[in-house]
Amino acid sequence: MRDLVADEAERLRFIEQKAREVSRLFGYREVITPLVEHYELLAAKVGEDNRKRMYVFDDLGGRKVALRPEFTASIARLVATKMQSFPRPLRLFSVGSLYRYDEPQFGRYREFWQANYELFGSSKPEADAEILALTDSLLEEIGLRGYYFKVGHVGILRSILSHDGIAEDQQNSIMQLLDKKQYEDVLEATKKAGSPKSSLDTLDSLFETKGNDSETVTAEIGEIVKDYPEASKAARNLSEILGLLKAGSVEANFVIEAGFARGLEYYTGMVFEIYASGMDIAVGGGGRYDKLIELFSGGQVPAVGVAPGIDRLSLALQKQESSLSTIEKVVEPENRILVVAVDGSMLGEAFKVASRLRKESIVTVELETMGRSVSKALSDADRRGITHAVIVGSREMKEKKVVLRDMSERTQETIAIEQLLAKFGKQG
Ligand code: HAM
Repeated sequence: MRDLVADEAERLRFIEQKAREVSRLFGYREVITPLVEHYELLAAKVGEDNRKRMYVFDDLGGRKVALRPEFTASIARLVATKMQSFPRPLRLFSVGSLYRYDEPQFGRYREFWQANYELFGSSKPEADAEILALTDSLLEEIGLRGYYFKVGHVGILRSILSHDGIAEDQQNSIMQLLDKKQYEDVLEATKKAGSPKSSLDTLDSLFETKGNDSETVTAEIGEIVKDYPEASKAARNLSEILGLLKAGSVEANFVIEAGFARGLEYYTGMVFEIYASGMDIAVGGGGRYDKLIELFSGGQVPAVGVAPGIDRLSLALQKQESSLSTIEKVVEPENRILVVAVDGSMLGEAFKVASRLRKESIVTVELETMGRSVSKALSDADRRGITHAVIVGSREMKEKKVVLRDMSERTQETIAIEQLLAKFGKQG
């Protein structure tokens, strides 16, 4: 777990702010769920790997609880219990920290942040397409370049396994192997579970099927699974989702991989991850999960969602230098003013000037609080990138004036406080 200092914290908040703006643009209302929940709830469908990495403990009441490793289970619980009567579709947004005992390495932390968007109540391809389009908007908004979506459909894969009578638990472990791209092991496990050679061949062909021309790839997938009615339906669903994005001019790069699965066990349909150039770990992921609410006794509520990973997006932006200027513009106001009292007797006046500036302008206003002399305060201000110093002295104050020093030009003038406010004011 890390301490995030200044730039790192600001970059994280910049992405959070953009994520919030996008939630508003697409009509997702915020929900805040607890960081600690019953272990059973969080562990139910999080997948074997994530389950082993949860922070689990007994609370003082003897309940087995855990720190949330993701948002989806908590939000599904909320929808299944307290939001049953809310009109559908229900669009919900969350943002916050999550905990997984992952092996520390580049972009992999034990405490990390996600923005999370979930759409409940629609099983239509337009809902899946909306989640992909929303994700694309966020990535564009934060200024990320050269990213692509890796898209698959676990419905296609699971349908083949179900067709052969393979139970859900076994399917889950096969999906875990697929998530790690252990294709040989997948075929071995599927064979052991009882699939005939024809299905193994079908799966093998799917693992080879990928590309970014969605029409061609989905047609190929349709052809490969044509003897499996449910898998064919799932393939048509994937084709419809991608078709909608094309028709809607969502111009992101979608790379379709028929053998792509994700570690979380609740997915039932389209799944995806986002990759940024120069990084081989996903900066976000999501997909459709139509059975989770039912598991939490909330009836049949189809759902689809995404969680962009804020820490990894921040790393990706850092790598793409030019985007940094976008962030700096947002987190660093153009003008940073330091108000310095000439001596202790002028401190009250300095406070007043600083307060008025903050109220009536959009600049950052700091007050000299170290008791430094004017010249020491100015050289310190220089070092810290302050753009202007306002020096409050008794002589000028008598005429309701102050000295304004431009730190980069190294010039100064005596100006009326009203003029100062006009210069840095909201309309200035
Ligand atoms: P996930 O793929 O486990 O999906 O996580 C989503 C994103 O969170 C990842 O792509 C990554 O950017 C970030 N992330 C995950 N683990 C770490 C880590 N240890 N350090 C830094 N970043 C990390 C989910 O969590 C699903 N709940 C997404 C979802 C929402 N599916 C449907 N709705």
